[in-house]
Amino acid sequence: MSLKKDLISIKDLTKSDIYSFIETAKEFKKISLKDIKKVPTLRGKTVINLFYEPSTRTRSSFEIAQKRLSADSLNIAISQSSVTKGETLKDTILNLESMKPDAFVIRHHESGAPYFISKITKASVINAGDGINEHPTQTLLDIMTVMEEKKDISSLKVAIIGDISHSRVARSDIFGLSMLGADIYIYGPYSLLPVTGFKDIPNVRIAKGFKEAVKNADVIIMLRIQKERAGYHFIPSIEEYRNFFKLTPELLSLASKGVMVLHPGPVNRDVEISGSIINRDKTFIFKQVENGIAVRMACLYMLLGVQKSLEPDI
Ligand code: CP
Repeated sequence: MSLKKDLISIKDLTKSDIYSFIETAKEFKKISLKDIKKVPTLRGKTVINLFYEPSTRTRSSFEIAQKRLSADSLNIAISQSSVTKGETLKDTILNLESMKPDAFVIRHHESGAPYFISKITKASVINAGDGINEHPTQTLLDIMTVMEEKKDISSLKVAIIGDISHSRVARSDIFGLSMLGADIYIYGPYSLLPVTGFKDIPNVRIAKGFKEAVKNADVIIMLRIQKERAGYHFIPSIEEYRNFFKLTPELLSLASKGVMVLHPGPVNRDVEISGSIINRDKTFIFKQVENGIAVRMACLYMLLGVQKSLEPDI
């Protein structure tokens, strides 16, 4: 296992690391299915959750994961913290560091913030989404969800549709799924596709149209427009987007028979995906959320339970 003290990027993991995460998550998932959903694995460990951006799924699943592993959680409400008085990220971390936490779970609007923090703390740092950069635990839970149905990722066609340029989920998914050998088709408004594509990754291509992207696809990952990153400035109107980039039942019918539809959430019903698709048996959005707890338990365990007090790599 090449994992060090932090989980910042999917690119830091090997294929075998990803499979180790998934195998561990599968074991932890069993705890969530029990009547008493708690084990003493991380008793005595302290985890600080620092969310500089809103979150429903990631924040609550990390907190539940910490509780199920018996770790002590501290949730910093940024709007009521000294960040509002001008305290810098560095000073916030150095002060919290004095309280001897074992890990920081960090979501931040600046790409690279978790990496920066990992250089100034001895605690483990887990990236819960940074700017337009990465969202590694989302990718691990996406891979777990796909593997529960499909087993072999390397034979799959995966379509990722929407605001690719601003999506940290797209980036991490592209890195992770391509590492496991999937063929990836990305598609969206030209203005929301990365200018250079992913040229260094051979099994990623930009589809010429929605139909090409989803035809015979085994997995379709739909993304919302990242309005908090000015995504709406790159399209003429929401109506235009709906007309050309919404996944409809007709488009879905072009995919393979056993297609899985994923979405990291939050979903904008009838903008990027028809509301009628959301509760279908092909849609795994709520299974992704369920698996998010198991993956985050695995992540905390593998960084804090297995790994003992590494010095920061300054
Ligand atoms: N998938 C995801 O990151 O959702 P939240 O923003 O609600 O955490």
